[in-house]
Amino acid sequence: MIREMRAAIFDLDGVIVDTARYHYLAWKRLADQYGFGFTESDNERLKGVSRVRSLEILLEIGGLSLDSETKTRLASCKNEWYLEYIHKIDASEILPGAAKYLRSLRARGIRIALGSASKNAPLILERLGLAPLFDVIVDGNKVSQAKPDPEVFQRAAGELGMPASGCIVFEDAEAGIEAALRAGMGTVGIGNPSQLKNADMVIAGLYQLVALEAIG
Ligand code: BG6
Ligand code: MG
Repeated sequence: MIREMRAAIFDLDGVIVDTARYHYLAWKRLADQYGFGFTESDNERLKGVSRVRSLEILLEIGGLSLDSETKTRLASCKNEWYLEYIHKIDASEILPGAAKYLRSLRARGIRIALGSASKNAPLILERLGLAPLFDVIVDGNKVSQAKPDPEVFQRAAGELGMPASGCIVFEDAEAGIEAALRAGMGTVGIGNPSQLKNADMVIAGLYQLVALEAIG
């Protein structure tokens, strides 16, 4: 249920910045090497979940069972490919309306946190120049349980000093919406309503909220 927002917690990949496609391309490269198909629709299952869990899902899709040493090597190989993209990104890849919406929340005195599964989140925010807009950053380095576990959002609320009932989570992944609901927070899905059925409301992007504010 949507309630009065006192704090906003944002996912990163696919909400603030268009990095979801780079995750997809890097995983696809791995699938290609092993000779199995991996579609954008398959990729929906990897959104929001940790790197290790993503690899497990990918291997399940490919019908592969590998030892843990090989899995560790593949996860780090995928990350190196992903970082090749990330080292080239700049502010032009911030999703439409994201920076404007963050600034408008700050102007309204709403506290802002990042709640991302990505261990690369600090690097990405730095490259985009968005880090100063966040009061709190909780990323994949700070949590032990992957979404849909609520840990990342609970920790963000805790660091903000905010009860769950005052927090709204902005998420593009089904696993992320589930994590926020389990934490007892309000949810705004970003993307396709058919993939985010459990969200309190779904919008195409943060630009729509900026447009609504302009209307008043
Ligand atoms: C999430 C992405 O934000 O971060 C997932 O939606 C990704 O696709 C996860 O696997 C972990 O990211 P990273 O950068 O630590 O590999
Ligand atoms: Mg995401």
